[in-house]
Amino acid sequence: MTLSEDGSYTAYSKEYNEHYHSTRDGALKESLVKHVEPAFKIKKNQDEIHILDICFGLGFNTLATLYYYEQNGLTSKLKIYSPELDEVLIKSLQDFTFPKEFEEFKHIIDSLCKNGIYEDENFYIELFLGDAREYIKKFENKFDIVYQDAFSPSSNPILWTKEYFGDIKRSIKDDGVLTTYSIALATRLALYENGFNIYLNVGEDFRDATLASPSSLTAFKEVDMPHKISCNPDAQPLRD
Ligand SMILES: C[S@@+](CC[C@H](N)C(=O)[O-])C[C@H]1O[C@@H](n2cnc3c(N)ncnc32)[C@H](O)[C@@H]1O
Repeated sequence: MTLSEDGSYTAYSKEYNEHYHSTRDGALKESLVKHVEPAFKIKKNQDEIHILDICFGLGFNTLATLYYYEQNGLTSKLKIYSPELDEVLIKSLQDFTFPKEFEEFKHIIDSLCKNGIYEDENFYIELFLGDAREYIKKFENKFDIVYQDAFSPSSNPILWTKEYFGDIKRSIKDDGVLTTYSIALATRLALYENGFNIYLNVGEDFRDATLASPSSLTAFKEVDMPHKISCNPDAQPLRD
């Protein structure tokens, strides 16, 4: 375990040679400011909110979503779908030192570790132990929110290609929103070439991040993609 800047612990993957979260921004903080808060700024007044959490990892994005939900007295039913390749990691989470903000969700973590599923009157959460590329193909026009939080494009390129984001585009609703920490032009191009509009997610105390939606998001500043492309004519999205 590695202590990150906001006092929450993250982990290091030897396989991908990368931490699961930005140690500089902090694990819990990164989940909240780069994923949960901007997504729920756009989506909250719906009976049901469907979320695709790519990929479950240590579960911070899912758990930070539940935390935000409780803190803000939301009433929608949340349905969270999350693929994860690493079964050993999932089983180990019962012993992980999560931040105190997640203490009230210990029974949920235990259920997800043991059974891969949790449900009560407010939350439905399912884990899929397998390849995210296969999993996302079964959804169409389903998700209000997609948390795109794979390891970096350089270490896990298969979850950042134009073809991958084509499948994500089919799975997200027209007014859905995708959140990601990546600000790489190649990532933004892969989204843009699939019909996403690209927006900036900026704050004073965290590094810039990206939002994307098939629709217009008036609450965020749009990235001028035609301008970026004309300044970088050789830039290309990653491909399968
Ligand atoms: C950066 S971590 C995710 C962090 C997570 N969102 C969190 O908040 O803790 C990336 C995760 O993707 C998983 N992964 C890598 N390739 C995958 C694939 N093709 N399908 C499903 N999961 C994958 C890794 O095992 C790792 O747990």
